[in-house]
Amino acid sequence: MTDKLTIRRPDDWHLHFRDGDMMRDVVPYTARQFARAIVMPNLTPPITDTASAAAYRERIISAVPEGVQFTPLMTCYLTDNTDADDLARGAAQGVFTAAKLYPAGATTNSDNGVTDVSKLDPVLARMEAEGIVLCVHGEVTDDEIDVFDREAVFIERHLRRITRDFPGLKLVFEHITTSDAVEFVLAAGENVGATITPQHLHINRNAMLVGGIQPHNYCLPVAKREVHRLALRKAATSGNPKFFLGTDSAPHARHAKEAACGCAGIFNAPYALESYLSVFDEEGALDRFEGFASLHGPAFYGLPVNEDAITVERAEVTVPETLQAAGREIVPFHAGQTLGWRIAG
Ligand code: NCD
Ligand code: ZN
Repeated sequence: MTDKLTIRRPDDWHLHFRDGDMMRDVVPYTARQFARAIVMPNLTPPITDTASAAAYRERIISAVPEGVQFTPLMTCYLTDNTDADDLARGAAQGVFTAAKLYPAGATTNSDNGVTDVSKLDPVLARMEAEGIVLCVHGEVTDDEIDVFDREAVFIERHLRRITRDFPGLKLVFEHITTSDAVEFVLAAGENVGATITPQHLHINRNAMLVGGIQPHNYCLPVAKREVHRLALRKAATSGNPKFFLGTDSAPHARHAKEAACGCAGIFNAPYALESYLSVFDEEGALDRFEGFASLHGPAFYGLPVNEDAITVERAEVTVPETLQAAGREIVPFHAGQTLGWRIAG
């Protein structure tokens, strides 16, 4: 039985840091584990241009604890009015690593997102030409589409066309939640990859709705049926380089989750690696963990792998019921549960 694992330091390819006090309190959790993270731009107002991304990057860097090496990789929030020249310039300057497509209204702070995906074609053509990665929140937002079907419908309505019309565009289908998404990514070219969160590997929709409504298990895209969770576990642990780690850690204060209209988002950053490791252990795939966590993401993005290493070991870790962030209580993923792995040292 493997009790210890030394791997290249991992990266988080999808993460929400927020801003201000919340950001200052959550950055250390990520920087403790990961060398880099793709930082989501859905602030209020969103990060839509190079100058605001560069300033946000500085604020994040100043929240990294002394002596810790951590590099935030910034994304541009695409809107109906994205300036493709500014995006290309920001990418060339190394400010932007990717751009993010939120269909308007799909999730937390997405009101300024794209109202008609086809209007984005000139920007996508430019991104394809410049080699800028497109990160996609793949859910339709139409009222008549059931919330559990929104990812599958997005594939049919948008992703098939985008990948056909822009065959060279690097596209990350983010936080996938269905077997439909796994199958789509597997059948697509090498330019199409996907991130998978810890929560979608651990929970199905029962975790939200059985035994009382459980707002801390609510995120978007919403967790689906068990058959989908099993498909995601198989994909994540398969060793296929199209699938890589992206936590989608999305902190919201406890009072904003435990409300009549609770926010979407699960705060999983504090024990993210421990959470993923328990899945790989249960699936007998610890030997594939380094690929998922540390190698496939950099290969997809065309970035070097991290040179330093981390060691993880089998040991019980109990996740606190609550943590403090921005002067308020926040409930982490796995609150009160015991996980079987920890970061050594
Ligand atoms: C994210 C957030 O809170 O910013 N919420 C979530 O449920 N995942 C937004 C997102 O990634 O959809
Ligand atoms: Zn997200």
